Amino acid sequence: MTETIREGDLILLILPEGAHYLLRAEDRLFHTHRDYVALGEFIGKPFGTRVLGANGTPFYAVQPTLHDHLMKLRRATQIIYPKEIGIILLKLDVGPGKTVLECGTGSGALTTALAHAVGSDGRVITYEREDRFRELARENLRRAGLEERVIFKGEAVEGFEEEDSVDAVFLDVREPWELLPAAWRALKGGSPFGALVPTVNQVSRLLSALAELPFVGLEVQEILQRFYKVNPERLRPEDRMVAHTGYLIFARKVFEK
Ligand SMILES: C[S@@+](CC[C@H](N)C(=O)[O-])C[C@H]1O[C@@H](n2cnc3c(N)ncnc32)[C@H](O)[C@@H]1O
Repeated sequence: MTETIREGDLILLILPEGAHYLLRAEDRLFHTHRDYVALGEFIGKPFGTRVLGANGTPFYAVQPTLHDHLMKLRRATQIIYPKEIGIILLKLDVGPGKTVLECGTGSGALTTALAHAVGSDGRVITYEREDRFRELARENLRRAGLEERVIFKGEAVEGFEEEDSVDAVFLDVREPWELLPAAWRALKGGSPFGALVPTVNQVSRLLSALAELPFVGLEVQEILQRFYKVNPERLRPEDRMVAHTGYLIFARKVFEK
């Protein structure tokens, strides 16, 4: 049955030309460049409701998806984008009840997706050396209602505290090869490792480091995504695209080579 919007719920407001906004249903006016709407009017109505603005613009309220949360979170660092996050979740086999360790919380985009995927019985252990990024990530997770699934830790200097206990490790730091022995120690035998780096030089360095440790099943990949103009009569790609974000490297821990 369709859920009703309650006061304080997050709603995604969609306008006819495609603009969308992540907002709370509360007693205030929301202005766009051409109209405004009273957000309180959505309270008590079902998700999917349309409310007309003062100038007649239709505002549609839908449930925010995880993708909406990721695209709307507050950023102070480079983030990992949904196109990479999708394959990371699959390659690391992140699911309900799992314990996942990541290093490089940053703004918490990947952390949010991991926390969503591990469910209420799982845990995400995330290392971040900068207080301000930890706080920002915490705020983003709180907004998405996922903060309780995440254990925050500080800088990984000597490595990680975890040993033979986590189901997956993901590194999003500048020099992931330095944390590779610690990642190996933290992982349970046979479990997946992943990393994202923006340059091919870093990929080479990480591959060399992986080759020196008991990791197998090495894989390097890049995800390209192209959006289309949503016009059924003149269907064609958008003129601009994000040409590069990063390279993904995956491997599995074994006990000997
Ligand atoms: C690119 S950002 C991570 C972005 C994040 N994955 C996201 O999706 O929002 C890299 C982060 O790694 C942190 N970092 C780098 N080396 C670290 C270390 N040894 N221990 C903890 N954090 C580290 C940096 O402070 C920075 O915030």
